[in-house]
Amino acid sequence: MSSIQAAVTPIIATVTPDGLKEVLVRSFEYASPTLAKIEDTFNAFSSRRPSVEAACGFIKSWHSTHLKMLPIYGLSCRLQQLAMAEASPKRDLYFVAAALNAETSYEDLSVGTPHLRTHAQLFDDLAEAICGNDAWRLDSHCIPEAAEFKSWIYHNMVHAPIETGLLTNMFSEIYNHGEYSFAMLPFETLLRRIEYDDREVKRLSVYIRCHVDSSVEEAHFNCVLNALNTYNRATGSSIDLCNAESLFTEYLERSGAIMEALRHRIDALQ
Ligand SMILES: [Fe+2]
Ligand SMILES: [Fe+2]
Repeated sequence: MSSIQAAVTPIIATVTPDGLKEVLVRSFEYASPTLAKIEDTFNAFSSRRPSVEAACGFIKSWHSTHLKMLPIYGLSCRLQQLAMAEASPKRDLYFVAAALNAETSYEDLSVGTPHLRTHAQLFDDLAEAICGNDAWRLDSHCIPEAAEFKSWIYHNMVHAPIETGLLTNMFSEIYNHGEYSFAMLPFETLLRRIEYDDREVKRLSVYIRCHVDSSVEEAHFNCVLNALNTYNRATGSSIDLCNAESLFTEYLERSGAIMEALRHRIDALQ
């Protein structure tokens, strides 16, 4: 995919209500320079074989911005707590919202497809192929911006108001669709540069490919939007568009700051 923006645009076009669609359009448009920096970092990372330090720093930090199964589980637990404290019909709505939110983890866990490795295992395959071993796992390789992002996501989904949690999970799905779609080519290029053959490149890049093929992240985005609408039906509220816009903007600014810091690190450690 030529850009993150190009990948998310067709998904945004299908969003209802129009207010949410406009907020998504504005958030991505406002972040155009940030998205360009993110793309630039992926291209820089794949432009030559990175040093072990640069590879471990990139992989550990990037890992911290993905694989958010723990906060997804925490958010579903919170919705279940609300359900248990209510009688029908509110109880049913909260349970359905919890289930819809949890559905975004099915692929990660390989629920229903026991022959596949979990997404955590697929990430490990890719990370070890690029870093040479599993040393990338050390927290010392994680840049502060990425560690803060991970804490921010956990806070939003497990401690902040539930609508903020659902908006965070929802936005991460559409952003990840855009990012994985763009990152596919740079990662394949890098694996070839490390001298894996075509068959190995295909096997090792499955972590990224599986999120792009079959529109997995697009389906997750719609699933959380459905969870949010169901939650709002239970509480009798509607999406706070101001809250949504500032959250989406902060998400993209934080992602951009991480990638900008990683770009400097890659250049310094070559
Ligand atoms: Fe995943
Ligand atoms: Fe997802």
